[in-house]
Amino acid sequence: MFEKNIYIERRRELLQKMAESAPAGQAGILLFVGNTEAAAQYKDNAYKFRQDSSWLYYFGLDEPLMAAVLDVDDGTETLFADDVEIGDIIWMGPQPSVASKGAAVGIAATAPYAALDAVVKKACAQGRPVHFLPPSRYYNTMKLADLVGIPAAEVPARASQALVKAVVSMRLVKRPEEIAQIDDACALGYEMHTVARQAVRPGIVEQEIVGKMEGVTLSKGWGVSFPTILTQHGETLHNHLHDKVIEPGKLMVIDAGAENNMHYASDFTRTLPTGGRFTTKQREVYQIVCDCNELAFSLTRPGITYREVHLAVARKMLEGLQAIGLVKGDLDEMTALGIAGLFQPHGLGHNMGLDVHDMEDLGENLVGYDPDQTRSKQLGLGSLRMARRLVPGHVITDEPGIYFIPALIEQWKREGTGKGFVNFDALASYYDFGGIRLEDDVLVTPEGARRLGPNRLPIFPDDVESAMSC
Ligand code: GLY
Ligand code: MN
Repeated sequence: MFEKNIYIERRRELLQKMAESAPAGQAGILLFVGNTEAAAQYKDNAYKFRQDSSWLYYFGLDEPLMAAVLDVDDGTETLFADDVEIGDIIWMGPQPSVASKGAAVGIAATAPYAALDAVVKKACAQGRPVHFLPPSRYYNTMKLADLVGIPAAEVPARASQALVKAVVSMRLVKRPEEIAQIDDACALGYEMHTVARQAVRPGIVEQEIVGKMEGVTLSKGWGVSFPTILTQHGETLHNHLHDKVIEPGKLMVIDAGAENNMHYASDFTRTLPTGGRFTTKQREVYQIVCDCNELAFSLTRPGITYREVHLAVARKMLEGLQAIGLVKGDLDEMTALGIAGLFQPHGLGHNMGLDVHDMEDLGENLVGYDPDQTRSKQLGLGSLRMARRLVPGHVITDEPGIYFIPALIEQWKREGTGKGFVNFDALASYYDFGGIRLEDDVLVTPEGARRLGPNRLPIFPDDVESAMSC
């Protein structure tokens, strides 16, 4: 946990923002419900516990079955949780009291978990607004439905937009103590990828490498920040199968990150030649993606929107693809038409923090788009999760990629999409190429940007090959 003043200050700022969003005395209460244990096969064999990220941000307490009410009108704060009794102590050992846990994050008033019900129902009966965030867990959906007396299906739509906006405005801009944690998660991610790179060689099963790299973060941090992608079929963007034997001459996409013990994420992608050296054809495409990654970083600075950076990268990608004969035409026209989406059907990056796709549970557009921005429907640009005008403290990923997805190419060809710009004949020899993605984690600074983590994973093709020969 951070020291308690950080949580006190965050809650004070949140209360102030919420007070400003409503007439005096009518702002209501903020209801936060932390996560519970979630059964894997049965109640006593649960998934590894992961606390709700907004709860962690404002309350820091990393335990199941806790809730809190912040009263915006009178400023009181109450933590709801149960002290252990002998039945729990037998299985869990003695535990600190709820009062001491509250004190550790600056909350003096505590009450049993069951007392939450009466507090929320009273506020509802008085017609006071009850603000809650959209829940991502089933239990929390049911709990909120019960507390505020609405059908579970209505809970997401009844979540408070004012609270979401206030939370997003705070969590989007990382403060120094958070940046230190993300740097730490990036150090772990660096180590994971280093272990993986050293293990890649023809003849072994992909799963062996996954086990080794996940062991790194499990031994020093909380675990992975999302299910590891490690595949010789990088053209499938989120391929979680690791059952193939590594073959020579392939490209291995490794997209993996760590979650450190404070639950901050890292997210790196590197693409390695399985035999240690790129073929000429692989190197040509790799260099384009590498140039795109570099361009994105060089453009990242306060004042530019990440949508503009995405589009500049799309143009650069088309320029590279034109040079190897896969597209032809005016670069601005092709960029505007979204031709790059055939090769990169995803966005340039996303926010990162306590979640690898930070706050995606609060709504992708509210998190990643400024009020004056609308989301494109184009393939690729439409998947851009972070489009906002950048400010210092934003933490984003820079993850261009080129993929040859036979089914997608065939669809464009069949439907005439990209006709006159895409060289479908030349693309026929890329159907077994796979994909390439190169991803770094980036902090927007007052001067520009800094790549997060103490070291950058090898990315330039010569550096990758020499690292693989060690
Ligand atoms: N690295 C996984 C993702 O960004 O979706
Ligand atoms: Mn990512």
